[in-house]
Amino acid sequence: MENIIELEQVTRKFTQGERTFTALKNVGLGVRKGEYVAVVGKSGSGKSTLLNLITGIDHPSSGHVRVNGTDIHDLSESELARWRGRNIGIVFQFFQLIPTLTIIENILLAMEFVNIVPKNERRNHARTLLEMVSIVDHANKFPAALSGGEQQRAAIARALANDPDILVADEPTGNLDSTTAASVRAVFSELVTRGTTVVVVTHEEVDQQKFDQVITLQDGEITHFNFGDPGDERHGKCL
Ligand SMILES: Nc1ncnc2c1ncn2[C@@H]1O[C@H](COP(=O)(O)OP(=O)(O)O)[C@@H](O)[C@H]1O
Ligand SMILES: [Mg+2]
Repeated sequence: MENIIELEQVTRKFTQGERTFTALKNVGLGVRKGEYVAVVGKSGSGKSTLLNLITGIDHPSSGHVRVNGTDIHDLSESELARWRGRNIGIVFQFFQLIPTLTIIENILLAMEFVNIVPKNERRNHARTLLEMVSIVDHANKFPAALSGGEQQRAAIARALANDPDILVADEPTGNLDSTTAASVRAVFSELVTRGTTVVVVTHEEVDQQKFDQVITLQDGEITHFNFGDPGDERHGKCL
């Protein structure tokens, strides 16, 4: 089966003055369309670096990153921004909603930027997304008026504004209490049910049963793959 996300021998080095630090070493992985994937590891293990390479926010020092059929590092920065908007939704730990826009305006702005949802359908589409994450009643409020969990659900709705095939989330529940975190995780599961490929990064323990793959990072290297489905030929694979 074809991989929607594929990394081959990816290394990312950061140079600061005389010192070079290798944040990712020879990372290889493949995610199939529709999979629910967790990337786990301690703080500093390279999780965010990995996610930033998948979204094209950052570039590898060597190796290849292919996402949704595109070798994304062949693209210029402006092509990348357009490509990202159409293909990937991104959810951050601290939500990153624009504080001076209402919740629905935040979502409309994401649609405006990518310009694939027809103008006259945007408001309805935004409301549908807000219904899906159960905060449509807050559509016309400013982010500060919402709880953390509600803001994160708004951020998820915004990430889905342009119907991306892939949703990535960097520590999306890191700033939420456990009940709220569970409701955010439920939204991700629902998205997977609908066919979206979801990659979630976390330093917390995960329920491995819930994921198609759990990828463990340690000091910039993948130390373990765990494939959830016993019927999957990759089941039980590790490095
Ligand atoms: N822009 C950068 N410049 C220098 N070092 C960086 C940069 N980004 C990340 N690092 C280093 O790479 C390592 C992995 O960082 P990161 O991917 O953010 O880890 P995680 O998300 O797992 O906590 C850390 O030691 C971090 O300090
Ligand atoms: Mg991180």
